Amino acid sequence: MRTTLPSMRAAFYEQRGDSGVLQIDEIATPGPGVGEVRVRLAVAAVNPTDWKMRSRGDDLPAPQIPGMDGAGVVEAVGPGVDIGRIGERVWIYHAGYQRRWGTAAQFTVVPARQAVHLPDGVELDQAAALGIPYITAYGCLLCDGPIEGQTVLIHGGAGAVGHAAIQLARRAGAHVITTVSSSAKGELAIAAGAHVVIDYTAPDATEAVRRAAPAGVDRIIEVALTRNMDMDLAVLAPHGVIVTYAADNDDPTIPVRALMTNNVTLRFAMVYGFAPALIAAAVAEITAALASGELQPLPFIRFPLEETAAAHDAVEGRVAAKVLIDIP
Ligand SMILES: NC(=O)c1ccc[n+]([C@@H]2O[C@H](COP(=O)([O-])OP(=O)(O)OC[C@H]3O[C@@H](n4cnc5c(N)ncnc54)[C@H](OP(=O)(O)O)[C@@H]3O)[C@@H](O)[C@H]2O)c1
Repeated sequence: MRTTLPSMRAAFYEQRGDSGVLQIDEIATPGPGVGEVRVRLAVAAVNPTDWKMRSRGDDLPAPQIPGMDGAGVVEAVGPGVDIGRIGERVWIYHAGYQRRWGTAAQFTVVPARQAVHLPDGVELDQAAALGIPYITAYGCLLCDGPIEGQTVLIHGGAGAVGHAAIQLARRAGAHVITTVSSSAKGELAIAAGAHVVIDYTAPDATEAVRRAAPAGVDRIIEVALTRNMDMDLAVLAPHGVIVTYAADNDDPTIPVRALMTNNVTLRFAMVYGFAPALIAAAVAEITAALASGELQPLPFIRFPLEETAAAHDAVEGRVAAKVLIDIP
């Protein structure tokens, strides 16, 4: 006997372009394949990657639901997955990466490991906002090993990745200096655990970092390499590392002699390409931090699923909050 799954409400696009390509409609609910779970989503979170993937790239072979991150409840499991997972509250990562089934929909299907058990008491809103920023932050901080006792400079400490990085760096035992552009953002960074907050728009910002780290910083988590290169070179300790995770179509000229003289490592990080072991370590650490109640979310700004295009535009417009989509 054939059973037909009910349809689900979803945001999707059939061609790439500005947010006007997003449609909201009923589409067929996907079934979980081998090793997959189907999750009934309650909340999705929007990241810059969502509007960037929607805007650029190759032709789409099939309609694409946007969204990497979200949270909800496991509602069905595919062959090979423990049936006991049904009913489990989970946070989702990488849902729409090289797969059609992003999180801006009532259901997604993901490989079982990408639906991560959510400790009791953690709100689904906070859980939805973890994936991309927290895994990126973890990888940038810890891809070269422990940072206990090191001084880390995290640029943009009120941004999604920067705010996550402050919290994970503190848990890893680092001394944390961060940069922001306003006192309101500075308060978010302090609440996240930064030891020192510096306004990067101030004329003496570089001097302020130097005063905070007279021996130099060991590791820089960089969101704006071209704009910050001079400061980074001025404050980095010999043998220091700059890890860049953002590109804004403004590639820098590489100052080879200055980097070489100080034996600097210039590293680049893309979360989708992190080694499976690094992602697994990130997921374990994020879950442990959640369970201990130590992670705090950024302020949220919410949109209904029907307004997914406005949610994308808010992120593209760099709204100073974490953008969530409420799934009906
Ligand atoms: N490679 C990867 O795997 C990966 C993963 C996640 C994100 N990303 C990329 O990383 C970027 C940030 O993502 P996000 O979600 O964290 O965005 P976000 O929440 O908008 O945060 C960006 C932050 O960068 C800060 N910033 C901008 N210019 C700065 C400067 N010169 N110095 C210090 N801080 C500066 C902004 O602060 P002000 O508003 O105060 O300037 C803002 O707080 C995006 O381009 C995204 O596509 C890449």
